[in-house]
Amino acid sequence: MPTKQRRVLVTGARGAIGRAASKELRARGHFVRGFGRNAMDDVDEVHVGNLADAEAVREAVRGMDTVVHLAATPDDADFMDDLLPNNVIGSYNVFDACRDEEVDRLVVASTVQVVSGLRRSSDLSLIRIEDGTAVRNHYGVTKVFGEAMAEMYAHRYGISMIVVRLGWLPREPHHTLSISKSAASQAIYLSPTDAGRFHACCVEAGELPPVVTLFATSRSNGETVLDLEPARKWLGFEPVETWPEGRPHPVPEG
Ligand SMILES: NC(=O)c1ccc[n+]([C@@H]2O[C@H](COP(=O)([O-])OP(=O)(O)OC[C@H]3O[C@@H](n4cnc5c(N)ncnc54)[C@H](O)[C@@H]3O)[C@@H](O)[C@H]2O)c1
Repeated sequence: MPTKQRRVLVTGARGAIGRAASKELRARGHFVRGFGRNAMDDVDEVHVGNLADAEAVREAVRGMDTVVHLAATPDDADFMDDLLPNNVIGSYNVFDACRDEEVDRLVVASTVQVVSGLRRSSDLSLIRIEDGTAVRNHYGVTKVFGEAMAEMYAHRYGISMIVVRLGWLPREPHHTLSISKSAASQAIYLSPTDAGRFHACCVEAGELPPVVTLFATSRSNGETVLDLEPARKWLGFEPVETWPEGRPHPVPEG
């Protein structure tokens, strides 16, 4: 049976993961509106604006069934200048607009960095969602804030929330180089193809518990470090690529 076509807002649609998600969603026949600071290609409709502008966010959310919220400062940065406006206030604006505009589902981009402290511990060979979080930087703290907001908005306002702790999709050639040198990084690699397929599964999944929290990576190159079973169970998501398959840049010399 064909999947129902959804109207999807992708925030950060110009970014590394946003491009992959938008491309796959459109290929599957969904309508994609992109939101970001700069115009982007490969979406059906463009809304240029800043997450800190509550009215611009509300206009972008209006009329959408599902929001895939990816726009953020995607790594550690100055808290007051970058993380607070983009990841805290910006996320607050997205959550609030989703409530007011009666969005059915919000996909919230968290990160494997919320379990950095667990990954460094030699006691755990497989990290599960129920192992909790162990944050080691301000960026991770802002992502735990997003996870807590998802919990609260799901239970208080009835929005279906999918919180995804995303693996490492290299944005820059130097990320690709770092991954190429580290087996631990290769184990949490997320290819653009798998990222696109994952977000399509989030949009197309039927009824779910109020909040589901998942890890999303490509297939591990060896030892599994993050438990992919929740993504399989709730979304039917199975990664198809393993590092270096699908990497967005060649491995630079260095
Ligand atoms: N790439 C990864 O390895 C990775 C891993 C874990 C989590 N994530 C998360 O996934 C999401 C997407 O990451 P990415 O790698 O695609 O990052 P990216 O930097 O490539 O894309 C982010 C996009 O968001 C936009 N943006 C940022 N702040 C904005 C604001 N205030 N208003 C409007 N637009 C704004 C940027 O202009 C950019 O186009 C982020 O939430 C990030 O924290 C990424």
